[in-house]
Amino acid sequence: MDILPLALILLAAFGGVINQVHLEPKYAAVLRGSDARFNCSLSQPDWVVMSWLLNNSLVLTISKVHGVLENNNRFNATNYTTDGDYKWEFVLKNSQLNESSEVTCAVQNIDRKIAILTVQESGSVTITSGNLTVVRNQPATIHCRALNWFPAPNLTWTWDGMPVSEDNYSISTVAAGELFNTVSTLRLLANSSARVECQAKVPALAEPESSTIFLTVVPEPPEQDQTVLIAVVVSVVAVAVLVLLIIGIIFCYRRRAAESSYADEVRKKRTLSEANASEGVQGRENMAYLPDGRKQAVADPSEFNGSVSADSAHASEMPDAIFTSTHAAQEQNPSPVMGGPGTLENRKHRLATIV
Ligand SMILES: *[C@@H]1O[C@H](CO)[C@@H](O)[C@H](O)[C@H]1NC(C)=O
Ligand SMILES: *[C@@H]1O[C@H](CO)[C@@H](O)[C@H](O)[C@H]1NC(C)=O
Ligand SMILES: *[C@@H]1O[C@H](CO)[C@@H](O)[C@H](O)[C@H]1NC(C)=O
Ligand SMILES: *[C@@H]1O[C@H](CO)[C@@H](O)[C@H](O)[C@H]1NC(C)=O
Ligand SMILES: *[C@@H]1O[C@H](CO)[C@@H](O)[C@H](O)[C@H]1NC(C)=O
Ligand SMILES: *[C@@H]1O[C@H](CO)[C@@H](O)[C@H](O)[C@H]1NC(C)=O
Ligand SMILES: *[C@@H]1O[C@H](CO)[C@@H](O)[C@H](O)[C@H]1NC(C)=O
Repeated sequence: MDILPLALILLAAFGGVINQVHLEPKYAAVLRGSDARFNCSLSQPDWVVMSWLLNNSLVLTISKVHGVLENNNRFNATNYTTDGDYKWEFVLKNSQLNESSEVTCAVQNIDRKIAILTVQESGSVTITSGNLTVVRNQPATIHCRALNWFPAPNLTWTWDGMPVSEDNYSISTVAAGELFNTVSTLRLLANSSARVECQAKVPALAEPESSTIFLTVVPEPPEQDQTVLIAVVVSVVAVAVLVLLIIGIIFCYRRRAAESSYADEVRKKRTLSEANASEGVQGRENMAYLPDGRKQAVADPSEFNGSVSADSAHASEMPDAIFTSTHAAQEQNPSPVMGGPGTLENRKHRLATIV
């Protein structure tokens, strides 16, 4: 006895379902300029007219017998009727932003159903910085700008293809007329080089629009600075050492040249005077004689200090107590053996040595 009312309820419910008009999809988001499509179907065979309304304005009428009655080139319908299922697909061509509204399928005397149409706009998305180079473990700041979207786009980031946590970026949106501009700033500690993508999406887009940059991570600046500093210091020191070395070599060379020319002169003079002495003087050789130039070298080391070493052996040959010639004497009378006026000292010298 309990089964009968239940069966009646089920039958009523079933009948109600059967008699209903179905409108699909309930919610449609399309991009501006594309077509919006809705299916309206019913199983009840006794229908006559199906009307389509956009924002409660009649835009299309379909007769069960004659098909589409009002034909506007922006609104049309396609017959998808199969056995026991009367189905018509309503098409709004080239949808405009201001056509976001309710879409109604009204089957006269049976039922009406409402769906929502949202016409959307996909604008541009750009990571404004372009490819970036940042320092390792320093915060990298990357800006993404999405312009001219409707509604405001959902901006997200990926880091080498992995979604970035919302903690790491900010988002702000401003209206620009009937459209929206959204900007996002991503801040991350850059660990390693990565491909960074900013994605903007509205429901009407099957795939988000995106902008990709390559973030190149370079080592921390302290290391780099020290390396550069060390390199600079080393090269400066090297150059300085080189310059000093060159200066030193030039200096030594000049000195040696001067010494050797002086030594040559002395040697020449000495040879000459020895030859003269052996020719012109009778008697024993003057063992104590030394050319004045050489004497001078020994007598005046401050002026020729470098030359002493070369002739020091000769200088030490002879005891030097009595010779005190002056510079002037030497110039005037370079060869004491040849005679000439000479100074008192020279004469003394000769007297002393000839004995
Ligand atoms: C409407 O129904 C037909 C046939 O079942 C199908 O091909 C079409 O994609 C449907 N259209 C929409 C907007 O669901
Ligand atoms: C719609 O399609 C069905 C099945 O093909 C057909 O029987 C019916 O006549 C069509 N309706 C109109 C108005 O063309
Ligand atoms: C909707 O927008 C289109 C194009 O933007 C324009 O031509 C049309 O007049 C607008 N309709 C209304 C009702 O504002
Ligand atoms: C819908 O219609 C109402 C009045 O009929 C109008 O004020 C409104 O702007 C319309 N909306 C759209 C999206 O066309
Ligand atoms: C960024 O780098 C990639 C690969 O290194 C290159 O293909 C691309 O052209 C670069 N983009 C810009 C804006 O320089
Ligand atoms: C985002 O920031 C959190 C800390 O707030 C961090 O744990 C996470 O690794 C960051 N996400 C990415 C992708 O780096
Ligand atoms: C950064 O690098 C270190 C080791 O170099 C690693 O342990 C850490 O997980 C990395 N962090 C991120 C966010 O990739």
